[in-house]
Amino acid sequence: MRKPFICGNWKMNTDRAGAVALAKATAKTAAGVRGVEVGACPPAPYLEAVVAAAKGSPLVVGGQNMYFEREGAFTGEVAGPMLKDLGCRYVILGHSERRHVFGETDEVVAKKVRAAFAFGLVPILCVGELLEERDAGRTEEVVRRHVTSGFEGLAKGEARQVVVAYEPVWAIGTGRTATPRQAQEVHGFIRRLLADLYGADLAQAVRIQYGGSVKPENTADLMGAPDIDGALVGGASLKADGFAKIVAEGAKAKGL
Ligand code: PGA
Repeated sequence: MRKPFICGNWKMNTDRAGAVALAKATAKTAAGVRGVEVGACPPAPYLEAVVAAAKGSPLVVGGQNMYFEREGAFTGEVAGPMLKDLGCRYVILGHSERRHVFGETDEVVAKKVRAAFAFGLVPILCVGELLEERDAGRTEEVVRRHVTSGFEGLAKGEARQVVVAYEPVWAIGTGRTATPRQAQEVHGFIRRLLADLYGADLAQAVRIQYGGSVKPENTADLMGAPDIDGALVGGASLKADGFAKIVAEGAKAKGL
């Protein structure tokens, strides 16, 4: 049985006081739900404050990105061991904003995934097609490429732990959500792909989150789908009440 995982991606938002307040409220949400893992990925400068605010609660914290080298002359980058040192468990990798605004390639994302494991972090690997790719009927081709390159070179024990986030780029921050049916189709496709790569047992263990304009009103339908194991929530994770509703709806949809 896969434990549902609902994680906030705060992106480049909040200030220090706002991050601490949101972390405290989100930690309460995490403590008040059974059987759902709840996470938050704040901006790197506030990680330490958020980890401190979450202390003693089940809220897990992650970075939004990292570089693949351990240390060195890489001005402006954050290293995996730094995230680990601050108390992160997860790191989001290959987010569409990293791929499309900052030009990260599949090769760079794959190196980061392997580095995350080397440094004791669990990657949340984001995959998903652009609108023009969907319209051209290329969704599966793009998602296959993101998944196969992202998992390349992983040992089975690592592959099993990866959290995949299917985030159709046209649904991110646009208010346009994939329908539960559209999302389930791709989630099912990803699970079959993982079964081809690693066997059915492993594919059944991997958690696949949906991301893209998740909000309290659409969570139940999305998470009611059999292969949708949680959500990566951007804008709606910045409001503590709304995020708490998302977690509650997600738990209910999974019968928890
Ligand atoms: P959104 O972002 O919920 O604001 O669409 C999701 C994401 O990019 O992870």
